[in-house]
Amino acid sequence: MEKPYQILAISGSLRAASTNTQILEKISQWVPDTVSWQIYEELAQIPPFDPDYTEYPVAVEQFRTHLLAADALVFCSPEYVFGVPGVLKNLLDWTSAFSSGEWHEKPTAVITASILGEKAHESLRLTLGILGARILENTSLLISHARTKMDKPETEADLKAVLNALLQELTEKPVLQ
Ligand SMILES: Cc1cc2nc3c(=O)[nH]c(=O)nc-3n(C[C@H](O)[C@H](O)[C@H](O)COP(=O)(O)O)c2cc1C
Repeated sequence: MEKPYQILAISGSLRAASTNTQILEKISQWVPDTVSWQIYEELAQIPPFDPDYTEYPVAVEQFRTHLLAADALVFCSPEYVFGVPGVLKNLLDWTSAFSSGEWHEKPTAVITASILGEKAHESLRLTLGILGARILENTSLLISHARTKMDKPETEADLKAVLNALLQELTEKPVLQ
């Protein structure tokens, strides 16, 4: 049976041992049964954005379907050379061509797990906001020095707080303790 809420989670790192992907996997353990949690796995299949496109490439169309179905989104990304990783920005550039309300004020969490990460964090929040996602302060989290901090209780508490705030947006009531 389809669950009432669907969250699409997107890692900005293609690395097999990515800290950011691990954080999304960690969060998945806390997602309540009423919520479907899907980690997007086809980022590497997205072709370079070309404004001269005549139709969406298959991978882009498939992402559009995921985006339309999602009630909320969670991004978790590193910073590369003071910016959003190109693979993730490329995906977002494609979505700027969508015109059927795919973002439509969807509650969106932005987690940046990096060595520093401040610039990519702000840049990703800005890009998602202009695309139409609903970016909230309590669903944004910058985790600097992430590799040493990701399993610490304080980090887990911060991640749970972000998830809880997102769930609250979806269901109007807190779900986690
Ligand atoms: C090409 C490249 C550029 C990077 N530039 C930055 C940077 O500007 N700021 C930063 O905080 N970390 C930077 N890093 C380090 C990443 O934050 C770090 O490797 C992080 O763990 C990558 O995320 P992941 O573990 O999810 O793959 C860079 C890493 C790479 C590979």
